[in-house]
Amino acid sequence: MTEAALTSIKKDKKLHIMTWGCQMNVYDSTKMADLLSPLGFSLSDDAQGADLVILNTCHIREKASEKIFSELGRLHKQQKEAADTSPKMIAVAGCVAQAEGEQILARAPYVDMVFGPQTYHRLPEMVAKAIRGKGGQIGGGVIDTDFPAESKFDHLPMETTGQGPSAFLSVQEGCDKFCTFCVVPYTRGAEYSRPVSAILAEAQRLIDSGAKEISLLGQNVNAYHGAAENGDTWGLGRLIEAVAKLNIQRIRYTTSHPKDMDEALIAAHRDIPQLMPFMHLPVQSGSNIMLEAMNRKHTRDDYMRIIEKTRAANPDIAFSSDFIVGFPNESDKDFEATLQLIRDVNFAQAYSFKYSERPGTPAAKMAGQIPEDIKTARLAVLQELLFAQQRSFNERFIGKTVPVLFDRHGKLDGQLLGRTPHMQSLYVQNGKGMFGQTVNVKVEKVTTNSLERVIV
Ligand code: SAH
Ligand code: SF4
Ligand code: F3S
Repeated sequence: MTEAALTSIKKDKKLHIMTWGCQMNVYDSTKMADLLSPLGFSLSDDAQGADLVILNTCHIREKASEKIFSELGRLHKQQKEAADTSPKMIAVAGCVAQAEGEQILARAPYVDMVFGPQTYHRLPEMVAKAIRGKGGQIGGGVIDTDFPAESKFDHLPMETTGQGPSAFLSVQEGCDKFCTFCVVPYTRGAEYSRPVSAILAEAQRLIDSGAKEISLLGQNVNAYHGAAENGDTWGLGRLIEAVAKLNIQRIRYTTSHPKDMDEALIAAHRDIPQLMPFMHLPVQSGSNIMLEAMNRKHTRDDYMRIIEKTRAANPDIAFSSDFIVGFPNESDKDFEATLQLIRDVNFAQAYSFKYSERPGTPAAKMAGQIPEDIKTARLAVLQELLFAQQRSFNERFIGKTVPVLFDRHGKLDGQLLGRTPHMQSLYVQNGKGMFGQTVNVKVEKVTTNSLERVIV
């Protein structure tokens, strides 16, 4: 963008970003704000009166992507009814933008910009173009859903407004696994690992801006294979070891794939005190027939072996997972195998979903789609078991004292929320002065999703 174009935009402008989907989308939203800040945009909590609203979207399940269109409809209604207080420009970013591109403009022609997860580093140019478009020079919205040869990471600003006590850092992106149900390889593109030095520099900047905990992110974070300064290729275990040498209290990583779990990462759970005792390792199903049909590239036994090895390295570790029920042709027996795997592992928490047909994925074309009522019934049984395990995991902590990093404000005045090492949410009613601190807290009460406590 020319200097002149830049100055014409530069004025006090309000930016509102709504984020759906995974942590990588949350990370991307923080980067979009950093990119637009030199253009005079500052973040606002409210879409009303914003100069630009960005919807950073998720395509993973049908419900997630349909939400976007109802949100767009709502914003457009505001634009028509109260032009002076409504958002002036609307952008659709993220995985729905990547998957649907032009169709978004066809369905919602009032959208000014559509761009995918790999092109948002061009946001300043897009905004300039869209503003010119508003002046009547170009018609329609600006679309950019390339998979550019250059990495967006090389073009993201060094300056960051910071993310607070608990920060996300993308180290790997994309996926080459092509599970038959999943859109991610199509929306995020091929697997890519950032170089070690760029990651360590960004980690240091996050620490300088107040981060006490850093979560290393990737769609397949343990497939990380980044270039080190001396030309070596580092895996995630080594990367964590290097991050741990910085002045950081806590390190986490997500999401891992069983196929990419290696000895170095397991050893890191034994050797690195800042690495939190928590592993999110999606399995999807406990039936080998389903795992094969899903193209997961691992068996039930492979998964159990990883759990055993990790527990041998660090018996304190808590496991979490993702499950899909009602994948095409899933029989009662396959479903029972999933329940058995859950009983065998004993999870501290988990996410579970009904299989959702995604356009363009191989599973959407499979015969043997499961009726909705069976999916619903199976999900209820599965969640009852998972919730019972989560509750009994949490109950083990009643009366115990645990270190909690308080990183979020609650709804009520003075209420603070934080995380235990095992990723449990814990809240206190009166947490004055504890924001951003790690405080030893005695657990008083347990709900399925969180712990409640008194301060020691
Ligand atoms: N990269 C991660 C997770 C990606 S998406 C992994 O490989 O595990 C997060 C979760 O969404 C997946 O683990 C899966 O459980 C769920 N998911 C993905 N596609 C889905 C679909 N079509 N229907 C239902 N759930 C899905
Ligand atoms: Fe999707 Fe499978 Fe890749 Fe995970 S590993 S992002 S579920 S294709
Ligand atoms: Fe959703 Fe895209 Fe993440 S589809 S889960 S936002 S990678």
